[in-house]
Formats: sequence, C-alpha cells, structure tokens
Amino acid sequence: MALYSEKVMDHFRNPRNVGVIENADGVGEVGNAKCGDIMTMYLKIDNDVISDVKFETFGCGSAIASSSMATELIKGKPVSEALKLTNKAVAEALDGLPAYKMHCSVLAEEAIKSALKDYYDKNGIAYDADLLGGEHDCEHCCE
Ligand code: FES
Repeated sequence: MALYSEKVMDHFRNPRNVGVIENADGVGEVGNAKCGDIMTMYLKIDNDVISDVKFETFGCGSAIASSSMATELIKGKPVSEALKLTNKAVAEALDGLPAYKMHCSVLAEEAIKSALKDYYDKNGIAYDADLLGGEHDCEHCCE
C-alpha cells in the first residue's frame, strides 16, 4: 500500500486556497514544536459564514495537504461548524495519514482555531475558551 493516499498527494501537489487575504477578519499562525513547521490561516467572515479562507504553510507535505483540505472543509460554512473541525476529520477527508504524520493535521485544526480566536478578539465577541482549546493532546491521535 502506498504510504500516502491519492488525496494527500493531490492536495500536496495542487493545494487549494493558497495565499494571503488582505484585511482578513481573522489570522492564525501556529507552529509545531516537534518539527518547526509553521502554518498561517486567513479567514474572511461575513454574517457568521466563512466566505473566504487562504493559507500559507511552511512545512511538510502532510501539513500542506492538511491545510489545503481544511480550507475546503470550512469554506462557505458557518463559523460554528469551522469551530468543530478536528484534525481527525481533516485526516479522514484525506483518506488517512500515516500515524506518525497525524500531528501535521493538528496544525490545520489549531491554525483555524487560532484565526477564529483572532476574529472573536478583534470584534469583542465572547467565546467558549474550551472550544478554541488550549494545547492539543497528541496522545489521542498521534503515534
Ligand atoms: Fe512538521 Fe508535518 S512534519 S507538520
């Protein structure tokens, strides 16, 4: 069996929604302490709907594929749905990632949550800190 699914290869080779949104409503930048990879997520939000999303990922192929898939999963969706996106859902949508690459998908979840937190903070909107969650517990998905 190939190490990476066709979907992972496709999103790695042709990542969707790459770039920057000027005047984004929310920007989130996260890094993975293990590998040093960095991901930035830009959100445009209109009437509580993610009308546009773009990302820049300085990282491995799995991180690029994960961010690309994550943007596809939240584009056009209400903020409440984007908040619930988990790294597992991103990995499943990619038809799986090797176990030792699951942490790369965590970056995508954290980047979206960080951008949403920025959006809430900028607009003075109260939010449930648990939903935007502190540290991801890798033991439940990685290794
Ligand atoms: Fe760094 Fe994949 S190895 S995010």
